[in-house]
Amino acid sequence: MKKAFYVTTPIYYPSGNLHIGHAYTTTLADVISRYKKEKGYEVFFLTGSDEHGQKIEQKAQENNLSPKEYVDGIVKGFVDLWKILDIEYDRFIRTTDDDHVFAVKEIFSSLLEKDLIYPSTYKGKYCISCEEFLTSEQMDETFHHNVCGKEAGDFEEETYMLRVSKFQKYLQDLFATNFLEPETRKKEMLNNFINNDLEDLSVTRVGFNWGIQIKENPNHVIYVWLDALSNYITALGYKSNDDSLLKKFWSEDSEVLQIIGKEITRFHSIYWPVMLESLGLKTPDKLLSHGWILSGDKKMSKSIGNVLDPVEIINTYSSDALRFYIINNLPTDKDGSFTNDLFIESFNNNLANNVGNLISRVSNMIIKYFDGQLPKKDTSNHWLVQKGFETIEDYKKLMDIYNMSEATQLVLKLGQECNKYIEDSKPWVLEKEGKNDELLEVLSVLQKNIVIISYLLKPILVKTYPSMIKQMGLKPEEINFENMKSNFDYEKIIDKLVLFERIK
Ligand code: MSP
Repeated sequence: MKKAFYVTTPIYYPSGNLHIGHAYTTTLADVISRYKKEKGYEVFFLTGSDEHGQKIEQKAQENNLSPKEYVDGIVKGFVDLWKILDIEYDRFIRTTDDDHVFAVKEIFSSLLEKDLIYPSTYKGKYCISCEEFLTSEQMDETFHHNVCGKEAGDFEEETYMLRVSKFQKYLQDLFATNFLEPETRKKEMLNNFINNDLEDLSVTRVGFNWGIQIKENPNHVIYVWLDALSNYITALGYKSNDDSLLKKFWSEDSEVLQIIGKEITRFHSIYWPVMLESLGLKTPDKLLSHGWILSGDKKMSKSIGNVLDPVEIINTYSSDALRFYIINNLPTDKDGSFTNDLFIESFNNNLANNVGNLISRVSNMIIKYFDGQLPKKDTSNHWLVQKGFETIEDYKKLMDIYNMSEATQLVLKLGQECNKYIEDSKPWVLEKEGKNDELLEVLSVLQKNIVIISYLLKPILVKTYPSMIKQMGLKPEEINFENMKSNFDYEKIIDKLVLFERIK
């Protein structure tokens, strides 16, 4: 039986169009999902939209629309973006979906029944923009939130609370494992919240309507974060009459990876595990909390207004170019930059000059010297092919720990070595001197390595991969991790395709 793999992104707020920051997380998830499929996993990839809450209600009012009309318009833009970015998800969940709404009410009721949720009152500072109660560590002296810079308001109302404080020991044990990455984030959560003063969380609101009403008290709507976090299991049928997906993808045997940006680590590493434990479900195997894309030294964000539009980038360059930059140039354990110059430089150096140039030089020589088809030759013992085989293994090790950036860099390094091998072995001289056997060996070694390079970039370069492989005389579907090392029957290469045109 295939092993099951479940990967999720945050569900994004439709309070405006998505920007490069959202495209970052979703592309990470898509690439890992495609890689896992190549490895033979059965994959479920979830993304979606987080549509309730006061912020959305306000936005809709500003636009003279009902909240649902407003979110329908924005969410259509999400779906369109994922389509042109080649994001291949299995479900796009909306928190306004009927099955989700039903299941969230059930979740609330069952926690209430277990006395893990209780009626109370809440008093404190609240950031509407982030839909979050703030602790003193999260604000400056004038009560401005240190993530979005907006002023938090005073808040006092009747509410229901989730007994988070009961779970301190549970969380400490959880944090002793390596479920949360990177390590720095773990320390932050332990010091600022878990070991410090772990408070219960208010999980209903009475001041507005745009949310999921609880069955027990019609004045209360469920706090957006309780509603939103639940999506990861409601999408799999939790509390519905068909929970076969849940049994398959959220089980002890499945691998669950949740990818988020670092600013929502608290919700995903503290409240979410508490909810799961309360419901008797396992915690995700890995919570990957990546850094921010910065603009200057600030987080790129809608509320700051310093965002880049992914649609524009895709239309100007290509989805592959954007996917490549995200994976290669933005390692998840740090903050990263996205500027036009960096983007173009990376594309030209890595795709046009390195990989693209390699493929075009080699295919041209195969066409010119061997009429498009090399006589079959086994090169598996050649040092550079061995290097290619090692790259496959090292790449897998890195991808298996979700280090996609370093994995990609290994592939690019192999490309550089192949280019250097062309310079060193000078096939054009071999041809002139009539050293046909040597010429055949050089080109066969390069052809094999190009197949390896192309295949390892397949999860990223969704659109270009078929052409890369065809350019070597193979069919895109016929290569997999299993047969990678075998001696392929290459077909005659006829076309000279330009794969990555240099950006001027
Ligand atoms: N709706 C909540 C998430 C609920 S999940 C149960 C939310 N939405 S959001 O629209 O604000 O999206 C936040 C996410 O978008 C981040 O966690 C991250 O995945 C992505 N990013 C938004 N801006 C980003 C950067 N500047 N850099 C990196 N990622 C960014 O929070």
